Amino acid sequence: MPVTLKSAKQIALLRDAGQLVRATFDLLRGHVRAGVSTAELDAIAEEFIRSKGAEPVYKGYVPPGRRGWPNIPPFPATICASVNDVICHGIPSKKERLRQGDVIGVDIGLRLNGWIGDACETYPVGDVDDETHRLLEVTKVCLTLGIEQARVGNTLRQVGAVIQQHAEASGFSVVREYTGHGLGKNLHEDPSVLHYDDPRNTRKILAGMVFTIEPMVNAGSPLTKVDHDGWTVRTGDGRRSVQFEHTLAITDAGPIVLTA
Ligand code: CO
Repeated sequence: MPVTLKSAKQIALLRDAGQLVRATFDLLRGHVRAGVSTAELDAIAEEFIRSKGAEPVYKGYVPPGRRGWPNIPPFPATICASVNDVICHGIPSKKERLRQGDVIGVDIGLRLNGWIGDACETYPVGDVDDETHRLLEVTKVCLTLGIEQARVGNTLRQVGAVIQQHAEASGFSVVREYTGHGLGKNLHEDPSVLHYDDPRNTRKILAGMVFTIEPMVNAGSPLTKVDHDGWTVRTGDGRRSVQFEHTLAITDAGPIVLTA
């Protein structure tokens, strides 16, 4: 599939959407504490996003490849809330209350004036154990290193390679099944952005590309499994996983992080 390159004007509109994602995180972060339910966080995010004239894009979402599958309902919520061993796509629930020592990944996707903003952050709930603390730090650095490689003249392979290298040098592993993605008026556009090294991944990075980088780093094995709800992705070994995601626009002067 061809990649659609965005104009400076379109990038400015994507930045507006990205900045609303940022404002939603700034609000939500203050509500992450022991005792709060993931459904409460979801309600806070949805109300805020709609109050700004935007709409959540995960709510009601069915991945194109799954259309027509029986028994998998559309995603029911505004945020993905992925606690501890949940890698991504966790469904907010009234029954799931955060506990001291947990980590929660919050993924927010929204549409503002027709353009998408998408990012993910993972928060510790109170004090976390040393391994979790390190997992948070390493995953953040993986994202930063990936962004640094997102430059005109590089290939997407270099983005994935540096992320995998840092995660594995730190004793962790990188999830393969879920990737970053281009976006614009659609949540998922080309290119796919792998978070690991693949010699076939030779696509050149061009000015005007807008895509996410969203490494999911596991404390243990990279293997994943999906719950019977059709959405919740967990680590195969039950150990923890952490994710950070930004949306960036590539310019000749370097990447602009739209969700920073
Ligand atoms: Co994304």
